[in-house]
Amino acid sequence: MSEAGFRKVANKKDLKEGGLLGIELDGNRIVLAMVGGKVYAMDAVCSHQGGPLDQGELEGNNLTCPWHHAVFDVRNGNVSETTVWAMDQKSFPVKVDESIGDILVNTSRATTAGAAATTS
Ligand code: FES
Repeated sequence: MSEAGFRKVANKKDLKEGGLLGIELDGNRIVLAMVGGKVYAMDAVCSHQGGPLDQGELEGNNLTCPWHHAVFDVRNGNVSETTVWAMDQKSFPVKVDESIGDILVNTSRATTAGAAATTS
């Protein structure tokens, strides 16, 4: 697990299913979310007025900002069409080393939802 740009930020044991974890990497505040055993990473500073998304509510793939309740899809940072006062968040590629549970994030390859229509 030494692919360029990926850095260890946490371990799977720090996160539980349906849980959130705030971390910092390269000056970015990032929220990790675990849904269906998969880990996602998204900008933790709400695009509306900077609310702390790592303190929001996660329901399925939807993360609700604690300040004015904008809703984002943790899989891609996409803001819900019903909460258009916020904009799409950056999301970051994640790798998990399943042998030891380490979670690695790459901040150099951030995408926003509009640009990340498909993933392989
Ligand atoms: S700061 Fe997140 S919805 Fe306003």
